[in-house]
Amino acid sequence: MQDIRTFHPRRGRMSDAKIEALAMLLPRYGVPDGPLDLEALFAGRPVALEIGFGLGHATLEMALDDDTTGILAVDVHTPGVARLLQEVDEHGLDHVRVVHDDAVELLRERIPEASLVAIRIFFPDPWPKARHHKRRIVRPDLVSLMASRLVAGGGLHCATDWTPYAEAMLEVLTCEPLLVNAYDDYAPRLERPMTKFERTGIEKGHEVADLVFVRRADEGATR
Ligand SMILES: C[S@@+](CC[C@H](N)C(=O)[O-])C[C@H]1O[C@@H](n2cnc3c(N)ncnc32)[C@H](O)[C@@H]1O
Repeated sequence: MQDIRTFHPRRGRMSDAKIEALAMLLPRYGVPDGPLDLEALFAGRPVALEIGFGLGHATLEMALDDDTTGILAVDVHTPGVARLLQEVDEHGLDHVRVVHDDAVELLRERIPEASLVAIRIFFPDPWPKARHHKRRIVRPDLVSLMASRLVAGGGLHCATDWTPYAEAMLEVLTCEPLLVNAYDDYAPRLERPMTKFERTGIEKGHEVADLVFVRRADEGATR
């Protein structure tokens, strides 16, 4: 299961401006190679990880709303990475860092245990076919990995417009011993910017579900 990717490599059109943004801005708003020193990278701010930011609409809005939390935003989709870098630079957001990589490798190899105050996964690829469910990012082995990277009390916030995935998320998250549901069932719609994927889902008549699970305080900080 470990090496099953949660994404299909996609090609996207890259304008010259985007190619330049990657080259010029990743050194400034990206992260160094190897294990990350989040304390140093974010000047001591608490850090939230956003997995699969897409075009970065939610990332940008949340960063503009709150400069007291560092945002580590990761996606594999190159044009989206370039777009977010351009926005971050335009607004001079020093509390945002953009990672162009597989979130699973980032979590596994480079993010220390018990170091994140939040993990956000908004509208992850639903992989609707049964034979593809193993590609879902909210699956047991990856949820355990994510939970181990949260501080006690830190929250894993997922949102999806695909009801069968929401049901699977609820089951997988409930089964993770390090986590406890912050609500009895699904969460109410929390403060979260509307993204393109959410809008499209709503236009199709899909119901949107939010889920918030919190790392238990009584498990100790290591795993
Ligand atoms: C359906 S899009 C949702 C984008 C955005 N969160 C939104 O709501 O508009 C899912 C995103 O997750 C990214 N993704 C999937 N697996 C990933 C992984 N392992 N690491 C980084 N990004 C990933 C994809 O490239 C894609 O941009």
